[in-house]
Amino acid sequence: METKRASWASNLGFLMAAIGSAVGLGNIWGFPYKMGKSGGFAYLAVYALLAIFVGFIVMASELAMGRKTGQGAMGTYHALTKKFRWIGWLALFSPFAVMGFYAVLGGYCIEYMALNLSNFAFGSESLATGGELFAAMLSNPAGAVLFAALFLALCYLINRSGISGGIEKFNNVGMPTLFVMLVVIIIRSLTLPGAEAGVSFYLSPDPSKLEKTGLFPVINAAMNQAFFTLSVGIGAMCIFGSYQSRDRSLTGEAMWIMGLDTFVALMAGLIIFPACFAFGVEPGAGPGLVFVTLPNIFNVMAGGRLWGTLFFIFMSFAALSTVIAVFENIISYSADVWGMERRRATWLHAVGIWLFSLPCALGFNLLAGFQPLGPGTSVLDLEDFLISNNILPLGGLFFLLFCCLRRGWGWDNFIAEVDQGTGMKFPRWLRGYVTYVLPCLIIFVFVMGYVDKFCK
Ligand code: PFF
Repeated sequence: METKRASWASNLGFLMAAIGSAVGLGNIWGFPYKMGKSGGFAYLAVYALLAIFVGFIVMASELAMGRKTGQGAMGTYHALTKKFRWIGWLALFSPFAVMGFYAVLGGYCIEYMALNLSNFAFGSESLATGGELFAAMLSNPAGAVLFAALFLALCYLINRSGISGGIEKFNNVGMPTLFVMLVVIIIRSLTLPGAEAGVSFYLSPDPSKLEKTGLFPVINAAMNQAFFTLSVGIGAMCIFGSYQSRDRSLTGEAMWIMGLDTFVALMAGLIIFPACFAFGVEPGAGPGLVFVTLPNIFNVMAGGRLWGTLFFIFMSFAALSTVIAVFENIISYSADVWGMERRRATWLHAVGIWLFSLPCALGFNLLAGFQPLGPGTSVLDLEDFLISNNILPLGGLFFLLFCCLRRGWGWDNFIAEVDQGTGMKFPRWLRGYVTYVLPCLIIFVFVMGYVDKFCK
């Protein structure tokens, strides 16, 4: 059952890659706009609790199953059980679903980066407003499709070289660069005149905002965000465990990944909210916060072309490090289980994901008439709903139940694997909570999410 295969060149390489997978558009784009919309500080507090008491636990279970079997998401179920193999097949579909829309957003980041770079280099006189720019981009089907293809071509170049030659090398350079850029951009944002109002919007508790939004929608949004931003629920973390040695406890590693991912999300807020307040822009501007609001701010701030370029390089790095990690799950499965040659598997799957990305890329233009979740919604909203509200929480529930219940892998096996090696140990007193309370909590939030969305 235990398979010996390639490992990371170093433990830092493992951590950088796993953090790279978790840190993505969900942190930099999703977290601040959801927080702006859902009650500010209350959302932050609920999110932090759920990251620890839900996200961290699912992450530890995914890492443990991956290390035990030496397999990615689908292979783990196939290796550990006969009865629940079908979950493995579901796990094969999920990465395509996630990457289908992620590739389109990654393509937009690259397009923004290219525009900012050319503005910075050639300094065009009149800059389009963020709204004009984004509308022009969304309405252009060829642009969306081609930039998604370019984004996937970059992923192909990284993934084809394998785990230590491709992913680990990219992240060892990309992640520290990302952290340095994060700090530089935060300092710029915090030193803008009027930035303090943004900091106090962000960090001071204001119960009246919670009253306006309602507690349940805040819990629902924070729960979905915790699954999404930590990349847990579809077994994306299994692959990292599968290449990890037995020297360090996975509990400790999961803590690090969860902590740093949450830290980056918090820091992204420190870029966005001070800048919004400094330029008198509404912070609850929704999904357009990064693609519309920020470009408007860069247009008017001193040195804005440079900051815009830096910011979108930062976003592109974050998107790339996420997709290469999810991508590795399906590549390794094809290589390990079907014996497919890595390069061949990589380009075949890259083309497959690109095909999956087409509905989303065309959803704002050619398919704009298709509004699946009501007026004004798009294919992206539908895919986001399917993934964040359904696939990730239900997938996370399967992982938990499988790890805890005797009919699955079983608590003792899970604990033995997750705690093997030096470092923090999994709190044993959480057994009752993890086995009974947490699954009920996930189901409750899942059901209430439907009630909230469709029965009001
Ligand atoms: N964690 C990624 C982000 O924050 O952007 C998104 C993601 C990756 C979600 C992988 C789910 C997943 F399985």
